[in-house]
Amino acid sequence: MTKPISKLINYKEFLKKSEKPAVRANIWKWRDVEQKLAEVAKEDPLAPGRWAVSLVHEDTGKSVGVCPGLNMLVQVFEPGKHAKRHRHSNFAIFIVRQGTGYSIIDGEKIEWEAGDVFFAPPWAQHEHCNTSKTEQAVLYTVQDVPTVTDMGVWFFQGSEGTGFQHRASSHDGDSA
Ligand SMILES: [Fe+2]
Repeated sequence: MTKPISKLINYKEFLKKSEKPAVRANIWKWRDVEQKLAEVAKEDPLAPGRWAVSLVHEDTGKSVGVCPGLNMLVQVFEPGKHAKRHRHSNFAIFIVRQGTGYSIIDGEKIEWEAGDVFFAPPWAQHEHCNTSKTEQAVLYTVQDVPTVTDMGVWFFQGSEGTGFQHRASSHDGDSA
């Protein structure tokens, strides 16, 4: 017989249980990010010509965020790389550290260069292209994956023709 998952508790107990530990100030040094990017590029890229590293704050625990509610990655595109179109239920803020290129977000072409910031709303189709023939493009990316995951609404859809997936974590019994 499966264990019941309904429960009633005093609201005062809820307030106590819902307290979260404080998250400490933190820094991720570029030299460490750069070193990890080189390692990932060589050993396990996302796709040919594209790889990424996530910045994780240990105080966020299982949500592997950069802070509570948000995650952050640094992604690299090789010269000429045009990544496949996709969409997801999390938003994405892109901060261009290096390079030049464009992104198509919900049909709108956005041209970017170092220092620019652009935004892809939740569930907007988007694709990125590094237009340089010689220089890598490096995009810092901030997303709200931990938030949508907590709400059970993290969806992802790959390039056209592929169905969407609901990304839900399994119930391992210690998530309460
Ligand atoms: Fe994306």
